[in-house]
Amino acid sequence: MADLMENVVNLCKRRGFIFPSAEIYGGFRSTYDYGPLGVLMLRNVREAWWKSMVQCRDDVVGLEAAILSPPAVWEASGHLGAGFADLLVECRSCNTRHRQDHLDDPDKCPSCGSTGTFTEPRAFNLMFKTHVGPVASEDAVAYLRPETAQGMFLNFANILQTTRKKPPFGIAQIGKSFRNEITPGNFVFRTREFEQMELEYFVPPDDGPKWYEYWCEQRFNWYVDLGIAPEKLRLRPHDADELSHYSAGTSDVEFEFPFGWGELEGIAQRTDYDLKQHAAASGEKLEYFDQATGERYVPFVIEPAAGATRTMMTFLLAAYSEDEVEGETRTVLRLDPRLAPYKVAVLPLSKKDTLTPLAREVLARLQSNFMTDYDETQSIGRRYRRQDEIGTPFCVTVDFDSLEDKAVTIRDRDSLEQVRVPIDALVTELRDRLTV
Ligand code: GAP
Repeated sequence: MADLMENVVNLCKRRGFIFPSAEIYGGFRSTYDYGPLGVLMLRNVREAWWKSMVQCRDDVVGLEAAILSPPAVWEASGHLGAGFADLLVECRSCNTRHRQDHLDDPDKCPSCGSTGTFTEPRAFNLMFKTHVGPVASEDAVAYLRPETAQGMFLNFANILQTTRKKPPFGIAQIGKSFRNEITPGNFVFRTREFEQMELEYFVPPDDGPKWYEYWCEQRFNWYVDLGIAPEKLRLRPHDADELSHYSAGTSDVEFEFPFGWGELEGIAQRTDYDLKQHAAASGEKLEYFDQATGERYVPFVIEPAAGATRTMMTFLLAAYSEDEVEGETRTVLRLDPRLAPYKVAVLPLSKKDTLTPLAREVLARLQSNFMTDYDETQSIGRRYRRQDEIGTPFCVTVDFDSLEDKAVTIRDRDSLEQVRVPIDALVTELRDRLTV
């Protein structure tokens, strides 16, 4: 589909998934707000990740760490150094700035076409700096975290003590991260404020390679399980010159975006780099002591690090389709039901007073079980299309026969099949059909 990206961006705006931030003031530099449907879908993305990474495992626990942190953290982690800086060049002719590694031709400005006009590259650190407290002095400097991962390393000893976990075990976190990206773009693919879903998995050092393989496979399959066609995904090992400053080996799960292959998630072998750095800088012991064997060691870390906001956009792109129903083109988001903002919509056939009380009774029964929409405006055909366009897996129509037979019709988004179901059996029937 030639205009897939444009279609999805338009749908997001038109239906309330994603709005440009501060739009009434002309927008604000690649920042976005998640609207009524976006907020539901983003929660579902997080929930699907949390379920597979935390709920369904007994070796992973959760954490929500602070976003603001002191410079000492980022000095030790290496993020204040050259490892977390991009090389920036400026065109002397049109004054635009570019990431040197993103240029197709290192001599030619992609904005104005001039050649030989770039300044010498300079390192540009990606962290957002701020001040805490009323005085903006050097000793009040703090940073907004550029990754959630450091929270897990800083709390490693706390979590060992409080949970009595032993390697292999992991700490999972979902939350916002901030990077002063030189070239944000492609909608929410690259933004300065974004959300990550990260696991730091601590293992005995010799088991690093085994768990790296394991997590590469698990994470690839997570996207497939949630409906992305495997041929649109690939696992790509990093070349040595792409590796992050902390990594001994990384593979990216990539998706074929309309603008080319792009990273969804990196699975990195962070070795014992972070724990050792923080132990040295803080003076605290960050190691595991096995009381049974008397063995003491610094665990190695395998890190599957995904982006929640980028992944949400990917699920939208993968789900967007157009087909023909009764001679008309319909837009349908073929989202996995676990990701769909609404699981079901209640559509009374008419707005007449006689039907409304029953329709609202059906709504109330469903609402305590599933995220449910209610729509009584316009023709039933148009209402079906509206639900298809936002990916609602099932519509329930309440008609005049329902008053007599106490039954309603369930209509399936994908097969368009319709079945009559007693109202008393509706919740069970929908639960069976939805993977919740
Ligand atoms: N702790 C490791 C780490 O942060 P990363 O590859 O820099 O690794 C992990 O980031 C994931 O976070 C990426 O695969 C991507 O999905 C997401 N991400 C990173 N920068 C982003 C940005 N500027 N906008 C949106 N998502 C981003």
